[in-house]
Amino acid sequence: MSFIQIENISKKFDGVTVVDNISQDINQGELFAILGGSGSGKTTLLRMLAGFERPSSGRILLNGKDMTDLPPYQRPVNMMFQSYAVFPHMSVAKNVGYGLVKENIKKPEIDHRVEEILALVQLSSFSNRKPNQLSGGQLQRVALARALIKKPKVLLLDEPLAALDKKLREQTQFELMNIQHELGITFILVTHDQEEAMTLASRIAVMNEGKFIQTGTPTEIYEYPSNRFVADFVGSINLFEGIVATNDSNATQVKTDALGLLAASPDARVNVGETLWVAIRPEKISLSKKTISSTDINSVKGAVWDLGYYGNHCVYRIKTDNGTYLQVTTQNQSRATGLDINWKDEVHLSWDPACCMVLRE
Ligand SMILES: Nc1ncnc2c1ncn2[C@@H]1O[C@H](COP(=O)(O)OP(=O)(O)OP(=O)(O)O)[C@@H](O)[C@H]1O
Ligand SMILES: [Mg+2]
Repeated sequence: MSFIQIENISKKFDGVTVVDNISQDINQGELFAILGGSGSGKTTLLRMLAGFERPSSGRILLNGKDMTDLPPYQRPVNMMFQSYAVFPHMSVAKNVGYGLVKENIKKPEIDHRVEEILALVQLSSFSNRKPNQLSGGQLQRVALARALIKKPKVLLLDEPLAALDKKLREQTQFELMNIQHELGITFILVTHDQEEAMTLASRIAVMNEGKFIQTGTPTEIYEYPSNRFVADFVGSINLFEGIVATNDSNATQVKTDALGLLAASPDARVNVGETLWVAIRPEKISLSKKTISSTDINSVKGAVWDLGYYGNHCVYRIKTDNGTYLQVTTQNQSRATGLDINWKDEVHLSWDPACCMVLRE
């Protein structure tokens, strides 16, 4: 039996379905991420798990016990909201301990637990400060400490790091993972940032229009997306429509208008004559100025049409001789004043069939 069982949960607002029949098991101690675009229903789902919203249908079980009709304060669940509010007139320590004061816990016990939790989120030396004397990242950690202090079995985090800049976000991501690991609390984290989901989560559910489109480990989601939506939403992808020409245990070959015959990883589910999409991640394509034999499969000629320099890597948009665009990323491994491959350069692209997948929908 799974720790959390979400069974056929739906939510309608004024007749409009915003969470659409989601079923999902979540394990104890897991860091489960829900990744989806704005308006996909992430917060609504989290609010149902916390008890702030009643499902239109379906059940939520924790440890086998039906929680669907329990009010928020009777659930061993705490939620850190998308826009967290701290009390501006209270110190950090008072803010963090507030939830325990309301529960009539004795002061020495509160002080002890506040101290403990502030150490965990590395804010011990800030306990007497007021919120307006803190940075955004520190405030976020106050909110996290406040959510953790009641020792919930499940912590729901709604975009916990969205307000932070990139560096601080990365740092806080690691802290969050350490805290989760140390406390063994089950985290359900909502984000629209795919990198955040990939680095933090043991599993990710990709959500769109109220549904879980695919659930899997970060690698499964990235390397084995189940359809074009997931492939495109998580990372970048080159997609080409085509018809299956041959299919055997070595490769699935697909005839495309864009690039001719392409070879992909063999996929036993597909049939010759079927229309589908061939998908290749930009970093799986090698880019060179060296000539490759034009008869090689998965190799094309083109020219650099667009180029983005990111310091550590480059993103190229290549226009092939027949007018198809491909995105290719390269790591900048050498330190030079100019790029090896630049605007307008004639280039050759090639990629391994094993890195190429076929998507049926
Ligand atoms: N109380 C409500 N009444 C009516 N509609 C609502 C209510 N709450 C949310 N919605 C609608 O439900 C849909 C999903 O909203 P939700 O807040 O769950 O999205 P989200 O995935 O969290 O988006 P974001 O990434 O922008 O936070 C939206 O179209 C929203 O307008
Ligand atoms: Mg939201």
